[in-house]
Formats: sequence, structure tokens, C-alpha cells
Amino acid sequence: MPLVWNEKKYATGFSDVDDQHREMFGLVNELLSALESGESGRKISDRLDVLADHAARHFTCEEGHMDRLQCPVRVTNECAHECFLRDFAGLRELFDEHGNTSRFIDEVEDKVCGWLQRHLMAIDLVLRRFAD
Ligand SMILES: [Fe+2]
Ligand SMILES: [Fe+2]
Repeated sequence: MPLVWNEKKYATGFSDVDDQHREMFGLVNELLSALESGESGRKISDRLDVLADHAARHFTCEEGHMDRLQCPVRVTNECAHECFLRDFAGLRELFDEHGNTSRFIDEVEDKVCGWLQRHLMAIDLVLRRFAD
């Protein structure tokens, strides 16, 4: 199931964070459709690199906002980001070893797509309290 951006549901009110989340939704959707259409391993590998870089840059930006604002979930957010990057490295290894398998697609659905929605709703949206 592709991720569908919904301003009311997902916007934090911080335009840089929201733009990055929107972009991440796009990258994840493109990755999933590339996997489903059987795109070559090299190209999928590049997509995984782009997504990992984007996530790391986004996490640094979002953590900066939360630190500055002394947001109550800032430590939880940092831990969750660390977990995501660790899981993503595991996904990367799974792909490098076995390529585009249905198990890999299931893992991307859960650990990337599902995680992103759950994390955004439960943690990132706390930023709304601080938006102008
Ligand atoms: Fe976050
Ligand atoms: Fe985020």
C-alpha cells in the first residue's frame, strides 16, 4: 500500500520537517513500486542509498528542532531514529544477500512504510504543540 500524504493527518507545522516527510513518502513509494516491478538490483541499491541519506539528514534536522524546543519526546525520537537506521542497515544486508524477494518487500512494508506512519503519528507530531 503506498503512503499517501495528508496534511491534516501528518503535518507538524514545521515546513522543513513536513517537506522532508513528504519527500520521504515519495522515495518510499518509488522504492516499493520499483521492487514490485522487478527493477534491477543496482538501481534498487541506489534507491536504498538515497533513502538512507535522506532519512539521516531528516533525523538530524528534526532532532535539532526538538532539542531547541526542549520537546518532551526528543530522547524517544532520537532512540527511534537510531533503531530505524539499524533496522535499515539490516534491510540493506538482506537485500545485498538475497536481492528482491517477497520477504524483502514485506520487510520494507513493515520496517519502512509502517514504521514511518507509526513514528510520525506517535512521536513527530508532538512538534505540532510548538508550531506557530
Ligand atoms: Fe522522528
Ligand atoms: Fe520525522
